Amino acid sequence: MCGIFGYIGTKQDASTSILEGLKSLEYRGYDSWGIALQKSDGTVHITKHPGKIGDAKAPDIQSSIGIGHTRWATHGAISRENAHPHTDCTGDVVLVHNGIVENFDKLKTELEAKGHTFKSETDSEVIAHLIEEFLTSSQDLGNVMKQTKQAIDGMNAVIVLFPKHQTFYIIKNGSPIVIGKASDGYYIASGASAILPHTKEVYFLEDGESAKLTTDALTIFDKQGQEKQPTFISLPYDAQMATKGDYEYFMLKEIEEQPTVLQTISKSGYEDIQKAATLIKNAHETYLIGCGTASYAALAGTYLFSKIAKRHINHSIGSEFSYLVDFLTDKSLIIPLSQSGETIDTISAVDSAKQKNAQILAITNSIGSTLYRKADTNILLNAGPEKAVASTKAYTAKIAYLYLLAHEMNGSYDKGIDHLDTAIKAISTLIDNQNDIEQIVHGMKDSTSIFVLGRGLSYPAALESALKIKEVSYVHAEGFAAGELKHGVLALVAKGTPIILFNPHDETYEDTISAAYEVRARGGYVIGLSDTNHEAYDEFIHIPDCGDCTVIPNVVVAQLMGYYLALAKGFDPDKPRNLAKSVVVK
Ligand code: G6P
Repeated sequence: MCGIFGYIGTKQDASTSILEGLKSLEYRGYDSWGIALQKSDGTVHITKHPGKIGDAKAPDIQSSIGIGHTRWATHGAISRENAHPHTDCTGDVVLVHNGIVENFDKLKTELEAKGHTFKSETDSEVIAHLIEEFLTSSQDLGNVMKQTKQAIDGMNAVIVLFPKHQTFYIIKNGSPIVIGKASDGYYIASGASAILPHTKEVYFLEDGESAKLTTDALTIFDKQGQEKQPTFISLPYDAQMATKGDYEYFMLKEIEEQPTVLQTISKSGYEDIQKAATLIKNAHETYLIGCGTASYAALAGTYLFSKIAKRHINHSIGSEFSYLVDFLTDKSLIIPLSQSGETIDTISAVDSAKQKNAQILAITNSIGSTLYRKADTNILLNAGPEKAVASTKAYTAKIAYLYLLAHEMNGSYDKGIDHLDTAIKAISTLIDNQNDIEQIVHGMKDSTSIFVLGRGLSYPAALESALKIKEVSYVHAEGFAAGELKHGVLALVAKGTPIILFNPHDETYEDTISAAYEVRARGGYVIGLSDTNHEAYDEFIHIPDCGDCTVIPNVVVAQLMGYYLALAKGFDPDKPRNLAKSVVVK
């Protein structure tokens, strides 16, 4: 969703850095963009555009102070007027905003009654006029920003440029804000990877904190408004890892990075896994929570812990969890799973659990993220930056951790590692032979529906696989428990309907074969994924037996299918319509 990028410092080409910064935040999802640059004569140049950045050039303006924004429309249509930055009536207040000002209606009515004129339909512009209003009674910017913070409701992050003072003020109570400290000044962004080309030294602003930045100084204020010494952390990856390199799309790059990511977990994940296993053993009850892809990883966790660790661990979708917290105590353990660590529904779930004093063990891919900071204990997926909207490597990394964790609890860690290593080899083979999957996909490109079926552990894998396919190809895809076929799904099977059937050689094998016969009898086109071919399949993809880890290469097949289906239909797999990588509003 919306992205912010700002620079204040000594170099004169803020314009280029801001445009590049916005491009690197494109993955978050947006539909318009804009940049404000302060010129040396003190005036501010603002450029705003509906649509994507595309080949747009940075404004040809010398500037060392500026802010940019990618907007994901909430209040008001996608238009030039509604794009950020927004200004007050005088132009002395220029701002970009992420989040939703929940009381904007009331504030807007009051401000209009006082004579303020609005140029957009956004809630964001209200903040600019509110600041203007407070400035009429005080020129103390710190004080004015404190009043502004108190006056706006909701989870918001705002960067305000006061051109007359050559100063930024940031207030934050929700959306992420990262401040990078470089030799040529300060960089501000909604995501750490956008800052990486400039510096690795970053500070993640906490909710309730605010910041004042000038060309050569940064001051952080705590929730009470007292100055505090920020502790900068060093990002554990470099700028190169956040670029496409030789790939046309991030999605394929990230799919192909999976063997390396999983190898790292196999080789060096043990300490984290031991730590987490102890927490689960000591907890009265444990909940895995997440949204989207992470929710399917959470569901997979329930199956893995039941089957391998003989332990019931509940799971919940992040947005539903706050309705389930009544029985939690300080002996409960909550495990939020999240690539970004910034998904608001998962964060709100954690907040509800914290109110009950539950322990939080976060499994995220983003050091310093909100979930990382809120957690009592952290496991980092170390999958490197994931930029395609559809999550791939962060998903398989989550499954690998949960799988090894379940084995550790069962005292069979080495067996888990053996299976994971076999799965890694299987993924590498699939990647080497991805043309075969591309061929199969060509036969599916005119299908209006695709179904993915599996039982047991393969059921959550089927849900994730269908999500992957529909997210990027816009083909209606649904995952089902194969046993549910005769309870409704069969009504949807028509001649030629592609059915992807996960059929590992485990306790689900025979029943899943029956499902294959049932759909074939209704004209379905069965693509079987298994270690041995079978007459019930129309198409066969060989997946070696990797024990309970077989679900990992199975999902990788679906990732590749989604990717090639998107290409075959002419869609950009990295930026699916209407979706955002980081969902920071409810
Ligand atoms: C969005 C993304 C999904 C992602 C989900 C959870 O919906 O489009 O790809 O799975 O958020 O994100 P998280 O960062 O919490 O894993």
